[in-house]
Amino acid sequence: MEARVSPEQTLNVALPKGRLGEKVYGLFAQAGFPCPSILESSRKLIFENPEAGVRYFWVKPSDVAIYVARGAADIGVAGKDILLEYRPEVYELMDLGIGKCRMAVAAPVGFRENPERPLRVATKFSRIARDYYGGMGRDIEIIHLNGSIEIAPILGLSDVIVDIVETGTTLRENHLEVREEIVPISARLIANKSGFKFKRAAVERLMAGLEGREQ
Ligand code: PRP
Repeated sequence: MEARVSPEQTLNVALPKGRLGEKVYGLFAQAGFPCPSILESSRKLIFENPEAGVRYFWVKPSDVAIYVARGAADIGVAGKDILLEYRPEVYELMDLGIGKCRMAVAAPVGFRENPERPLRVATKFSRIARDYYGGMGRDIEIIHLNGSIEIAPILGLSDVIVDIVETGTTLRENHLEVREEIVPISARLIANKSGFKFKRAAVERLMAGLEGREQ
């Protein structure tokens, strides 16, 4: 079959591997960029549909912005948390309204802060935490962790955590509670700055398809 879209106009899309990425693929497919082979379960990471002019890659969610910033992907979908934390050089084009959660400060139930001492904050999001407390002039010590943040205050490693809260189940099951909300988070469509110039027509067609969808 003759390709409908020239290879130079093929959109290279970095999708966050996992449940959110599958949802994102569903939206992109409805918006005119289907690639049915992606739904076949396999260990493959790259899928292409030349007729639709699209190539998808599954990447680790926190790496999507790196692929897009460096032009290995023209566009991608990343959480606002990653964009705030790493500030990649990309265009943020659209809030997709999915993957909604919030960045929050949480602490053991009943925790009382001692304002005389620096607050020990465990987090994967050091910059977000630093910006947040810096804005209030609160002295803190960051303990940077890579996951399972909730156990830090339980084991006395930190006083509080700054982390993502979605359903609140992880906090509840570990006897923690939200103390302060920092910022709402959702999935964003991002684009490489020069890719956006060269493939603007395709990106705009995708955005129009996404905007027209039923909410
Ligand atoms: C995230 C976050 C919380 C949990 C919140 O963890 O760091 O632990 O989800 O979700 P909930 O409010 O619905 O319980 P993730 O699964 O990404 O693992 P990690 O942070 O431990 O790597």
